[in-house]
Amino acid sequence: MIRLAIQKSGRLSDDSLKLIRECGISFLSASSKLKTEATNFPLEILFLRDDDIPGYVADGVADIGIVGQNVLVEEGLQQLTVKNLGFSKCRLSLAVSKGDAYADVTSLQGKSIATSYPNLLQEFLTSKGVQADIHTISGSVEIAPSIGLADAVCDIVSSGSTLISNGLREVETVFKSEAVLVANQNLDAEKNRLLQQLLFRMEAVQKAQK
Ligand code: PRP
Ligand code: ZN
Ligand code: MG
Repeated sequence: MIRLAIQKSGRLSDDSLKLIRECGISFLSASSKLKTEATNFPLEILFLRDDDIPGYVADGVADIGIVGQNVLVEEGLQQLTVKNLGFSKCRLSLAVSKGDAYADVTSLQGKSIATSYPNLLQEFLTSKGVQADIHTISGSVEIAPSIGLADAVCDIVSSGSTLISNGLREVETVFKSEAVLVANQNLDAEKNRLLQQLLFRMEAVQKAQK
């Protein structure tokens, strides 16, 4: 039996479940259950917060996982990557209030920026020689400027509708991301064999889509 962690709800969830089904794996999914077993493959699926997936896979709580590169690289665990999956593409971007003047990244000098990705943001600002005050918050980042918590935000943008509905304007791309398959680095022979079988099926799915 191999244990796969996927996002419980969010941008990655539907595409992750779709990929598993396209691999010919059947399972029952009750939305309230946080764990399910496949009926035709020795696979257990855990439904977790995406931020928790890299750590669980690194620690072996889950054997493999599907997660965004944004979370993986932020947590410094990109060495767990087995395969890029090509879906759930998004970007980590800086955004300011629609009406705020913005010339280039130096406009952020000395400003406060709210984000859930302090490491990726710090690396970007350092590379641009900009110093800013990073406020790490775990969610609802886009609300920060309108409640006076920060001057700017750095968060994930996919369609851009969350930015627009919060009166924000995207000004810089910090990091580009897509979903990846990650695996624990000390899988035993049996789990490794199951991982190879899954990879083989995923590659067949990807080829069929080209
Ligand atoms: C991101 C971000 C926004 C949303 C943006 O959340 O925090 O809420 O996606 O998407 P849009 O541009 O299509 O409106 P994410 O799905 O990464 O989930 P999480 O922050 O809850 O982990
Ligand atoms: Zn501060
Ligand atoms: Mg988010």
